[in-house]
Amino acid sequence: MEVIILPGATEVGEVAASLVADVVRANPAAVLGLATGSSPLGLYAALGRQVAEGDLSFSRASGFALDEYVGIPADHPQSYAAVIEREVVDLLQFRPSRVHVPDGRASDLNAACVRFEDDIRAAGGVDIQILGVGANGHIGFNEPTSSFASRTRVKTLAPKTIADNARFFEAASDVPIHCLTQGLGTIMDARRLLLVATGAAKAEAIAAIVEGPVSSMWPGSILQHHRHATIIVDAEAARRLELAEYYRHTYANKNPVS
Ligand code: GLP
Repeated sequence: MEVIILPGATEVGEVAASLVADVVRANPAAVLGLATGSSPLGLYAALGRQVAEGDLSFSRASGFALDEYVGIPADHPQSYAAVIEREVVDLLQFRPSRVHVPDGRASDLNAACVRFEDDIRAAGGVDIQILGVGANGHIGFNEPTSSFASRTRVKTLAPKTIADNARFFEAASDVPIHCLTQGLGTIMDARRLLLVATGAAKAEAIAAIVEGPVSSMWPGSILQHHRHATIIVDAEAARRLELAEYYRHTYANKNPVS
């Protein structure tokens, strides 16, 4: 696992974007795993600037969102389908038909999850999965005690997640209780993982994920078992890392060929 500590959110977005851009330049038909939430917005904005300047194109790339709320109206601005369309598809000029979001309004939710997994497989798997992390360590909506073997499925949101996400809704009671999320097993199948986190509210989760024991109590700790995972954090999110000096030293002396 590579841990990169940068001064602030701007630098996190820029460096994370350069990693994603490298993947897309090497393979313009790359398959991206797309996270919602506030964490990757700086990354998307930085990629958007490269697209606007004509330095990068997602016209041949595909995308798979991590998760979606169950039952949220299709036109609700906080449905992840709407967020992905606004923050990613429009900004990065993906072809809309190549971007998939789990269908949280399907009459058969289990079938929708199977279909989503089939679509990822048919696309050849995810080349780079972008991730944020919840304050309780969730990735996607894989709440604490999620199985490391899990696939895309229905989950119940933790009260902490509902409280954290209430800021996007008029009231906490408007936050859906259920969601569809890629499983931890699904996420781990991606060829590369890139997790971004900023701010002191993420410090406990980052310490647990990077340096704690691998435990389903902190679902993101499964990244320790991935062969190509990069975690990019700002100084605030890094402040509980015991080996912060080592990560800074490693990054400052990064082998140019790696
Ligand atoms: C949300 C999403 C996650 C996201 C996380 C953190 O509930 N389902 O994919 O990574 O919580 O959100 P934020 O980046 O806004 O802190």
